[in-house]
Amino acid sequence: MKVLGIETSCDDTSVALYDSGRGVVENLLSSQVDVHGQFGGVVPELASRAHLVNLLPLLDLLLRRQRLTPRDLDGVAVTSGPGLIGALLVGLSTAKALASAAELPLVGVHHLEGHILANGLSAPLVLPAVVLVVSGGHTELVLVPRVGRYERLGGTLDDAAGEAFDKTAKLLGLPYPGGPHVERLARQGDPMRFVLPRPLAQDPRLVFSFSGLKTAVKLAVESLPVPPSEQDIADLCRGVQDAIVDVLCQRLFQAARANDVAAIYLAGGVAANGQLREAVATGAARGGLHFVPPAPVYCTDNAAMIAYAGHLHLVAGRRDGLDLDSFARGPLQSWA
Ligand code: KG4
Ligand code: ZN
Repeated sequence: MKVLGIETSCDDTSVALYDSGRGVVENLLSSQVDVHGQFGGVVPELASRAHLVNLLPLLDLLLRRQRLTPRDLDGVAVTSGPGLIGALLVGLSTAKALASAAELPLVGVHHLEGHILANGLSAPLVLPAVVLVVSGGHTELVLVPRVGRYERLGGTLDDAAGEAFDKTAKLLGLPYPGGPHVERLARQGDPMRFVLPRPLAQDPRLVFSFSGLKTAVKLAVESLPVPPSEQDIADLCRGVQDAIVDVLCQRLFQAARANDVAAIYLAGGVAANGQLREAVATGAARGGLHFVPPAPVYCTDNAAMIAYAGHLHLVAGRRDGLDLDSFARGPLQSWA
């Protein structure tokens, strides 16, 4: 079964082809970092316009490279939400037109389900598992008893972990998106110099809070000479990354113990962070939990995860009508 995936929920235009016999055969991505970088964050209208410009040429490239026509496909999967509505509409309209013209089944995929199931692209999924979804818009703990069933266990009360990385980067004058830059600089940082607060550390609930971290970073920046040295910035990046990784790990292992699962996973853009992956791997080994980190290319937004998730929906007999709508926000719903 050949399923085309389309992902346009934020600032990456991506199309991919998942073949049930061969796995991911194509995963093409057109990044909008150059469009939004100068504004220090995603500008929704510019994102929609860039998707409009880039999506069909990218799709055309995929079909030509694979020597396929739309009629050779067995289905179209598209991110229906959550995300920026204008951006989502570009992907949805394209997916619907394609499905209608080539008489293909259409399936809408929740963006977070895509991120979670991306773990199945690196190695067979071991379920039940607790998944920590950490991206620019989400920080959530999800219990996955089986594919298609999702139970939210907890999450952030304010900012997402990716947002904390991005806001820190902005305060330090680093480019957008900040996560990879903070990670790179943190490697040279002194972990003892800035020990930042671990909010809600004593709270027994599965909750996170990252908004206070921004204030702590702001105060730390104000205490530095102007301009700060490279070492000052590296030390602060290390302090922030340590604080974020610490609280993420604490809650992930707490959730795994409380739900008595044998496997844990990471998902979303922040799952590409090396220090987080190492800390989770170490904790998993110590606790006897199964953990395989997702391939970095499937952590940040991509259409391969949408094509793969869509393929699983189609195999289970689920499909959507041509009246499929988009949504800006909304919880991950179970369908199996
Ligand atoms: O999943 P994603 O591509 O988009 C959303 O669905 O939000 O995640 C993007 C987020 C950004 O906040 C970015 O700074 C963060 O993931 N990110 C990282 C790393 N790579 C991306 N954060 C920390 N370390 C990284 N290596
Ligand atoms: Zn995402």
